[in-house]
Amino acid sequence: MSENRSSFSGRIGFVLAAAGSAVGLGNLWRFPYLAAQYGGGIFVLCYIILALTFGFALMTTEIAIGRKTGLSCIGAYKKLSSKFSFLGYIAWVVPIIILPYYSVIGGWVCKYVAVYLTGQHNAAAEATFFKNFAMNPTSWVEPTGWFLLFLALTAAAVLLGVEKGVERVSKIMMPILIVLMVAISIFVLTLKHEVLDSNGNPTGEVRTALQGLRYYLVPDLSGFTFKTAVKTVCAAMSQLFYSMSLAMGIMITYGSYTKKDTDLVKSVNQIELFDTGVALLAGLMIIPSMFAFKGAEGLAANGPSLMFISLPEVFAQMPLGRFVGLVFFVLVFFAAITSSISLMETIVSMVMDRTRLGRTAACIIIFLVCLAVGIPSALGYGVWDGVRLLGLQFLDFFDFISNSVIMPIVALLTCILIGWIIGTKTITDEVCRNGEKFGRKALYEFMVKYLAPIFLVVILVFSVLSAFKIIEV
Ligand code: PHE
Repeated sequence: MSENRSSFSGRIGFVLAAAGSAVGLGNLWRFPYLAAQYGGGIFVLCYIILALTFGFALMTTEIAIGRKTGLSCIGAYKKLSSKFSFLGYIAWVVPIIILPYYSVIGGWVCKYVAVYLTGQHNAAAEATFFKNFAMNPTSWVEPTGWFLLFLALTAAAVLLGVEKGVERVSKIMMPILIVLMVAISIFVLTLKHEVLDSNGNPTGEVRTALQGLRYYLVPDLSGFTFKTAVKTVCAAMSQLFYSMSLAMGIMITYGSYTKKDTDLVKSVNQIELFDTGVALLAGLMIIPSMFAFKGAEGLAANGPSLMFISLPEVFAQMPLGRFVGLVFFVLVFFAAITSSISLMETIVSMVMDRTRLGRTAACIIIFLVCLAVGIPSALGYGVWDGVRLLGLQFLDFFDFISNSVIMPIVALLTCILIGWIIGTKTITDEVCRNGEKFGRKALYEFMVKYLAPIFLVVILVFSVLSAFKIIEV
C-alpha cells in the first residue's frame, strides 16, 4: 500500500494541503465565538500557550506516525502496536460525527453568500435575521435545504475526486482571504457606537472598537477563579483539536503522503502559525466591533451565531459593504468546503480500504449517513428546539462529544502509546531522519510523556462531569 501512495510535490505543497484542511470554520466561526464567551484575552492567551505546547506535540506526533508507517489512521495505529489498533477506529469515528454538523454551518455560509448576491444585505444586518432563518421554530425548509446543498457539494467534489483542483483553488483563495481579513480588521477598529439604555435612548456614552480590542487581546484576571480557569482551558483545548484537525487521524493521513526528505519541524511550525494566525484575525474582525455594538455581555450571548450576526452589521457600515460581504462569504465558503472535503475524503477512503465498495457507493452511503445525522443538528435550534441531549441542542451535543470527549481520549491514548509503550524515540528519530534540528525536542518528550496525559485526563474528567451535571459550571 505504501509503495503506490501519491506524495505531495514538496514541503510547501504539503504545508498548503494540511493548512487547507486545518483552516476552515473552526478558525473563522468557532474560535471567535468561544473567545467571546470565555472572556476574550484570557482565552486567547490560553489558546496560544496550548498551541505552542500541546498543538505542536500532537501535530508532530501524528504527522510523524503517518510518514513512518505510510498508512492512514486505522492501519497506522495497528502497525505501531497491534494492541492499539482500536485507536484507529475511534479516531475514524470523529470525522463522521463532525462532518454532518460542519455541513450545517457550511449551509449557513451558503445562505449568506446568497443573501449578499441577491442584495438582502441590509436585512441581514438586523439582529433578528439570523434567528428568523436558522432558529425559526416553524420552518424546517431553509435550515435543512442549505445544509443539504453544502453536503451535496462536498459529496460531489469527493465523488468526482476533485481534491487536487480544490487544493489549487484554495492556494489562490487563502492569500486573498487573509488580505481581506486584514483590511476588514483595520476598518473595524475605526468603529464606535453610542450606548443605548434599556428603552433604546442614547446614554451619551460611546463604546469604541479599540476598547473591544483590549477586551480581545489583554487578559483580564479579575473574577478569574479556579473554576473559570478550568472551563477556559477545556474550551481552548477542544478548539485546538478542532481547528488543527488533530486527534481524528487526518494529520496521520497527510503525514503518510509526505516525502521522506520533507522537514517536519518546519512544516509543523508553519501549519500551526497559519492556522493560529487565521483564527486570531477572525477574532479581530468580529470581537472588537461586536464589543462596540453590544458590550461584553451582548458579545458573549450570541454563541455559535456570532459570526453571522456581527459581520453583516459591520459590512452594513462599510463603504462597498455589499461587495465586501459577498467576497468575504465566498472565501469562507471555500475555506469551509476544503475542510469538509478533507473530512469526507478521510471517511470515504477508509470505507473503501475496509470494504469492497467503490468510490461511488462509498460516497453515497456516507452522504446518506451524514444526511441522517445532520438533520437533527440543522433543526435543533428551530423546529426541534425542545429536544435536548445532556441539556444541549443537537449541534452543540455533537460538537461536545467529538471535541471534548472522543478527541481527548484519542489524544490521551496516542500519548500513552508513544510516550510509554513504543517510546518517543520512534517519533523523534522519524522527525530527525535527515539530520534535521529538532529545537523543541526536550519539550516534545516532556509533553508527550507527562504533561499532556495528565492534562488530558483532567480535561476529560471535567468535561464529562460537567456534562452530566455532577459538578456545576
Ligand atoms: N480544522 C477544520 C476547521 O478548522 C475542521 C476540520 C476538522 C477539517 C477535521 C478537517 C478535519 O474548520
